[in-house]
Amino acid sequence: MSTTLGVGVVGLHEGRTLLVALNHPIPPTVGLPAGDQRRVSSVRAVAGCDQDAEKIERARRDCPEVFYTTDYETLLQRSDVDIVAIYTPDALHGEHIVQAFQAGKHVICTKPLINSMDDARRVWQASKRGERKLLVGQSTRFFESFRRQRIAYERGELGTIELADAHYIHRMDWYYDKSLWATTTTDWVFLGLSHPLDLIRWYLGPIEQVQAIGSRSALAQEYGVKSFDIYCVNVIARSSQLGRAMGHYGLHELPSARNAIELTLFGSQGTSLAQYHDMRYFQTAPDGTEIQYDLLYQNRAYYFNNEVHGMHYGEFANYTQYFADALLSGESYGPDLLEGLETFCIMEAVRQSAATGQPVHVAPLLGEVGLERAHG
Ligand SMILES: NC(=O)c1ccc[n+]([C@@H]2O[C@H](COP(=O)([O-])OP(=O)(O)OC[C@H]3O[C@@H](n4cnc5c(N)ncnc54)[C@H](O)[C@@H]3O)[C@@H](O)[C@H]2O)c1
Repeated sequence: MSTTLGVGVVGLHEGRTLLVALNHPIPPTVGLPAGDQRRVSSVRAVAGCDQDAEKIERARRDCPEVFYTTDYETLLQRSDVDIVAIYTPDALHGEHIVQAFQAGKHVICTKPLINSMDDARRVWQASKRGERKLLVGQSTRFFESFRRQRIAYERGELGTIELADAHYIHRMDWYYDKSLWATTTTDWVFLGLSHPLDLIRWYLGPIEQVQAIGSRSALAQEYGVKSFDIYCVNVIARSSQLGRAMGHYGLHELPSARNAIELTLFGSQGTSLAQYHDMRYFQTAPDGTEIQYDLLYQNRAYYFNNEVHGMHYGEFANYTQYFADALLSGESYGPDLLEGLETFCIMEAVRQSAATGQPVHVAPLLGEVGLERAHG
């Protein structure tokens, strides 16, 4: 394996962001001298695939050095592709992961890893037939404010987490207009709640049981969305720690009151809050005062390519570099396939609980997928 790994990207809407994030220098920060610093050192994008020729032309304008094809098999057959990065619609992830494993490739799959029990079983079985590794591209973990929160937690500054409270809220008419598949072939529990549920799982460890309620907003009804697009979830971990997740995809946003994604950790030694998009981070100091960091303008070139809020350049580059480093060093990393499948089972438990009005245990779903024990 060479020290620079080649990435082949399938699905060139969000996936185009990854091409740019890997191959372009960070743009100069307004007011600072230009440099040619890159976001990554041991990966580069070598190939892109989309079945839509217009998406390819758009990507080619940004990254002409990359090989393009409309045929996924052609991308998979390339020897310069070490890692396949999947950004196709949710319901295609399972099939695209299995094909990549069969071609002997490592995989980054955007969230949600998969959105059906059948695909969970297929992907798990396919992973056992080879040595290939997978990272779930949980972008929020790799955003600056959430990275700071994790460092504080790992240093012990928050103590034991007693309650993790997370949400992802975003009005989605623009998304339905561009990606009609979101109204029919997935569920907001996978498409949207994958962010807060992953965060809660990251801090609380294996989850025992969920209790969820769901509803359909006026916007969801207008677009004929099949799934609930409002979810409230209570979570209890195997450790007895508690979590709470909320999602609303038809709301009128009030960003000063609630950023799109937030995670508040209430710990035995302190409380902390990380926000996306505003990249703010808050934490209690030992003397009880509140420390505030406002990181957006300092980091907007790296994370948003100099937009104030925009595509996920920084997070995608961060997780791709992190995964490449883990592949090259052999060190462990997360969320890996096992943790991703477990988080899928938590999401499926939420879906079933909201549909039936009953609490749902996660362990039987893990058993149905063929996972003997929860990860961690
Ligand atoms: N924070 C994040 O990490 C984040 C943000 C947004 C979307 N996503 C995820 O990224 C994925 C894609 O979302 P999007 O908004 O880019 O969707 P999109 O509909 O805009 O783009 C999907 C692309 O995949 C292409 N495609 C579909 N089937 C294909 C096939 N068989 N072969 C090649 N190309 C194919 C389509 O032509 C389209 O260009 C979804 O799973 C979504 O949940 C993640």
